[in-house]
Amino acid sequence: MQATAQAQPNIALVKYWGKRDIGHNLPAVGSISITLDAPHTRTTVSFSDRLLQDEFLLNGKHEASMLGRVSTCLDTLRALSGSSLKARVESENDFPTGAGLASSASGFAALVRAGAAALELDLDIQQLADLARRGSGSAARSLLGGFVELSLPSPGSESTPVSSLCKADEWPLSVAIAITSSAAKSVGSTEGMERSRLTSAYYPAWVDSQEADLARARQAIAKRDFQALAEVSEYSCLKMHGLAMASEPGMMYFNGATVECLHQVRALRAQGVPVFFTIDAGPQVKAVCLPEALEQVSRALAEIPGVQKIIPCGLGDGSRLVQG
Ligand code: PMV
Repeated sequence: MQATAQAQPNIALVKYWGKRDIGHNLPAVGSISITLDAPHTRTTVSFSDRLLQDEFLLNGKHEASMLGRVSTCLDTLRALSGSSLKARVESENDFPTGAGLASSASGFAALVRAGAAALELDLDIQQLADLARRGSGSAARSLLGGFVELSLPSPGSESTPVSSLCKADEWPLSVAIAITSSAAKSVGSTEGMERSRLTSAYYPAWVDSQEADLARARQAIAKRDFQALAEVSEYSCLKMHGLAMASEPGMMYFNGATVECLHQVRALRAQGVPVFFTIDAGPQVKAVCLPEALEQVSRALAEIPGVQKIIPCGLGDGSRLVQG
């Protein structure tokens, strides 16, 4: 009745922003991401008849704000196995939580793997991805490694297909994550997405133009065309942040150092260094590069005032069971 799983964050290159159905947490747009090889979330799920309610501990501390979403995932697992046992979920992150480093993606990807194993449920990747997506839309992508696409459900379905576009070792890119703040983000992604949907004049155009970006990214990945991937990824990133800023009240996830990092990445690329940026709902900058450029990119970003730390990583595999 106990199992432990590990997962790494993924970073969207073609961004997900907006929900089609908030109750089922169905995205309004498809997305394409890369799964990292570090940092890690490790989650242990233990079901027990001694527990009166679910418990969720993050880095050793009870975390009430996430308990509802954790219990929603556990409820689905319990329904599938016919169990009514409550669970204690202990999750450890070796990186800042809630600051735009996709901690919810790795968190829910590890949770569903461990939870299913603890209940001895034999679920395939798609079933696990659909469960993880209920907790966090982007979590579905951390079930797989390398380049991953999360697609929209077909009419009448609530399943969001996940598929591998290219394995981590088939195009082993590197990522330098520039940490510019370790504070939790001001507006969470669910609230932010709804705010954009309800208030931004740009929202319909965002949804309508997503398929073209996905097609460009798919083609760039298939051809291992770094320059083409750089262009569509930066475009999607800035378009998402433009939408967030053009909501009411506008959401500004960047700080000064974030903006300086963007200029630095573009200056490096103009000099011929193979690197591009992307940023999620937080102030950290992810500089994606060819492995031979990682050292130079990391050094250049580390010099920017306000950059606290650089986390270098590569592409990795999807979530996996480590015990149970
Ligand atoms: O899965 P959520 O609810 O944490 O939303 C993720 C939103 C972004 O990180 C900004 C974009 C993405 O596709 O991961």
